[in-house]
Amino acid sequence: MKRLTYISNFARSLTKREIEGIGSVSQTNNSRDGITGVLMSCSGIFFQILEGEEDRIDMLYKRILEDDRHNEILCLKSELDVTERRFPDWSMEVIVLDENNDILLQPIKIMLQTLGESQAILASYTQSGVLRAIENGINPLTLPPRYTEKIIFFADIISFTSITEKLEVTAVVDLLNQFFTICTKAIASRGGEVTKFIGDCVMAYFDGDQADNALQASLEILAELEVLRNQASINSPLRVLYIGIGLSKGIVLEGNIGSQTKKEYTVIGDAVNVASRIEAMTRQLNRFLVFSASVREGLSDRWRPVRLCDFHAKGRDEIVEVYSIDDLLTFQKSDFKKLKQEIKQHLELIGC
Ligand SMILES: Cc1cc2nc3c(=O)[nH]c(=O)nc-3n(C[C@H](O)[C@H](O)[C@H](O)COP(=O)(O)O)c2cc1C
Repeated sequence: MKRLTYISNFARSLTKREIEGIGSVSQTNNSRDGITGVLMSCSGIFFQILEGEEDRIDMLYKRILEDDRHNEILCLKSELDVTERRFPDWSMEVIVLDENNDILLQPIKIMLQTLGESQAILASYTQSGVLRAIENGINPLTLPPRYTEKIIFFADIISFTSITEKLEVTAVVDLLNQFFTICTKAIASRGGEVTKFIGDCVMAYFDGDQADNALQASLEILAELEVLRNQASINSPLRVLYIGIGLSKGIVLEGNIGSQTKKEYTVIGDAVNVASRIEAMTRQLNRFLVFSASVREGLSDRWRPVRLCDFHAKGRDEIVEVYSIDDLLTFQKSDFKKLKQEIKQHLELIGC
């Protein structure tokens, strides 16, 4: 059996009747499906424990995730191989804590509120793959390290140092957040995983056989940034938000890396270095996007890769062929020096 515990927020204010309505539908359905559990509500928060056969729980949770009466649903725990039910007699016991002013329930109310707030904060600091593992009943800390083939994505902002020198701190943070949001959305929608933000740089990865998706996500990011630049007001720094992207493929070590108190689920290896190094070459090559021969090999026929140059890593014999595609989005408008000049002038005009 499976036991699933989650917390969520009301999507709007719900009356006691409405909550009881959820309870009575749940009791009918859950009795039919052999599901038991408890649903607590307090100060706009739901806390529910569901237990039953795995496939039944998964089907129900899917329905619950789609229910528009609540949102910001966070799975707190998913236990597999449960042998004994905690609530064998409750097809779904509804407890509305707001109703009850019993002093003994006050700490439980505060605990639920605190749990909701801290889970939301932690979730925004946690990478999606780790959250997914928790939702699937896997403790991410128990995932063993492994060697695996990945496509590494590296992107950073052109002339970021000038941007930080010329803009107020809030404007810098806003610009970074816009860039990171665009990257995260495009990468996630194509099945990739953002593993970290390093200064103005985004590092992400895709499975080794996902070259088309990695390239497509990169082009979508460039397209989104173009729209952002064009729609930004004349005095906005977003008008000069340009980036470089580098993609490389190889065997990397994937796993939990860090100290006892701070861990990252990430990848390390040569492909990471190559992606970051060839990304830096976008400046010389007058391209916003470059990728290695290893990525090119995995691309389908719909792309027309063009070979730009070879990259010699310091102290290594191996040469990496560097490619791009002839898409308007990948070309820097003029040469890089002119682009840098344009960015500088714009920042001088609007900066502090
Ligand atoms: C917080 C919350 C908890 C819910 N819990 C259950 C539940 O335990 N069982 C259930 O069948 N539906 C539950 N629902 C309702 C489902 O989302 C969905 O509306 C319902 O299962 C549809 O049932 P029907 O197809 O019989 O109309 C819950 C909804 C909310 C918002």
